[in-house]
Amino acid sequence: MKFFIDTANLDEIRAALDMGILDGVTTNPTLVARENREFEPLIREICELVPGPVSAEVTATDANGMVTQATELARIADNVVVKLPTIAEGLKALRRCRESGIAVNMTLVFQPVQALMVAKIGATFCSPFLGRLDDISQDGMAMLHDIRQIYDNYGFNTEILAASLRHPLHVAQAAMAGADIATIPFGVIQKLLNHPLTDIGLERFLTDWRKVSGKS
Ligand code: G3P
Repeated sequence: MKFFIDTANLDEIRAALDMGILDGVTTNPTLVARENREFEPLIREICELVPGPVSAEVTATDANGMVTQATELARIADNVVVKLPTIAEGLKALRRCRESGIAVNMTLVFQPVQALMVAKIGATFCSPFLGRLDDISQDGMAMLHDIRQIYDNYGFNTEILAASLRHPLHVAQAAMAGADIATIPFGVIQKLLNHPLTDIGLERFLTDWRKVSGKS
């Protein structure tokens, strides 16, 4: 499974790159707004930093406006992937982006049939939001399993990008369900290696080693 980071923060992206686990970046208007930077220069800087796909989202809600913004975003760098909302106008824009060779990440997916539709049109990525379904007491992971099954049934090439992941268990379960990619907030990436028995075990090894070697 590929790991993307779900952020527009350059320090967090650099830190994830240093860990050696980063395959790409997803941003959204909320994440970009937190950075207090101009949108296009920020996306350009992220694209220069990261060798993999960088998702940048349109804010237009009509197909013409989406395609205009998508075309501008795609010009920023070769690794830009344009994010479009999974609404009727978004599907129209997806088809036109596909015809122009623009890679698209279809976002705000909350049910398997939305995933089916975006795959039929040829989205590069489909982003089901797991955590936001869990937030309203629906089973986000069950949706992911259903999408995996549908894509496997018909051999779709669209990659499943598990999004809105809130904790390490979400990442593990997304991997078990066969997500192609997990996009993970930095705070969750930091937690992925944490286990108290790892810390206790290391401390014990070092204590025992000091006893025999006489070193501190
Ligand atoms: O970037 C899309 C998604 O990961 C947002 O997550 O936590 O705002 O539901 P969240």
